[in-house]
Amino acid sequence: AYAQKEGYRFFMEKEIYEQARVISETLMGRISADSIVLDELSPELLEGINTIKICACGTSYHSGLVASYLFERLAKVRANVEIASEFRYKEPLLTPDTLFVVISQSGETADTLEALKIAKAAGLKTLAICNVDNSSIVRLADATLLTRAGIEKGVASTKAFATQVATLWMVALHIGALKGTIDQQTLASEIHTLLRTPNALHVKDGLHEKIHRLSKRYLHGHGFFFIGRDIFYPLALEGALKLKEISYMHAEGYPAGEMKHGPIALADSGLFTIALMPQTLLYEKTKSNVEELSARDATILAISPKPFDLADDFIQTGDHAHPMSEFFEMMLITQLLALEVAVRLGNDVDMPRNLAKSVTVE
Ligand code: G6P
Repeated sequence: AYAQKEGYRFFMEKEIYEQARVISETLMGRISADSIVLDELSPELLEGINTIKICACGTSYHSGLVASYLFERLAKVRANVEIASEFRYKEPLLTPDTLFVVISQSGETADTLEALKIAKAAGLKTLAICNVDNSSIVRLADATLLTRAGIEKGVASTKAFATQVATLWMVALHIGALKGTIDQQTLASEIHTLLRTPNALHVKDGLHEKIHRLSKRYLHGHGFFFIGRDIFYPLALEGALKLKEISYMHAEGYPAGEMKHGPIALADSGLFTIALMPQTLLYEKTKSNVEELSARDATILAISPKPFDLADDFIQTGDHAHPMSEFFEMMLITQLLALEVAVRLGNDVDMPRNLAKSVTVE
């Protein structure tokens, strides 16, 4: 079926609103009462693997970064991520105990495809996380997990990212359960949270309107820093990328604890800080990083379940008990923020200048 806007102003907007549904589809048939069922990950594929190397570009690289935290924390597998265009020419050292994972919405990104070829030529086992069946990357990889986001038309990726993260989370749980690094009780509670992911992605009444209203403050100024820690650091990178792609304003994602090593020199009231302050992961640490920026007069938009008195703007998130639920809700908010800023600036959100949906040449 050809994608239609169905009353939304932009495909990107429609795709943001579709996320709760496409996540359900991504989970469908892959979760039983007490285990993760990923038949694509055969025993042969995982045998002898103790390292995972992830390779991707753009937004898909950011979901890979999230996965690197999840693989180490949940599955206790050494994991690292590389940008495909860097990986290609660095003469990478590859050993057969490594599962090579490529992540791609389109399955056609030239750099990612070439990286996959290099890994295959080195004899590694390969897994693709991809949204397009029968794409070049899917055809080449030993195994594929399809992300089931449906057709994504907006050049700025939203729902594909959400489904990639959910899929990679399932992979981490699957491997952790197989290896016994996750006990049954923890697995049950992770599954419980996974199944509730669509709730975190549901656009609550008043949220979009609130973001529309507060977005007017963020049309001028000399730049944005999205900051977060742990998995909220790659989310900060992704939030900044969304904003850059469609608003053409300068935005950077940064690890909150690293601001003091340079970027804080930029802080003044024209520096907008989007602070990702989850309650379930390093709240106090992140808060003190944001306080340092506030003390230098930076304009702060805090996204958090906890009211933060130094914030110039505040978007309150739900009272979640799991970092991944907080992750998905904050992801949604940063997507809507980028959308609203770009719309106010009069930009073509679905066809941003200079960008292509899929980059099939080097
Ligand atoms: C392009 C798109 C991005 C995307 C990247 C990787 O730059 O504009 O949105 O994240 O390619 O694409 P892929 O299809 O490999 O995920």
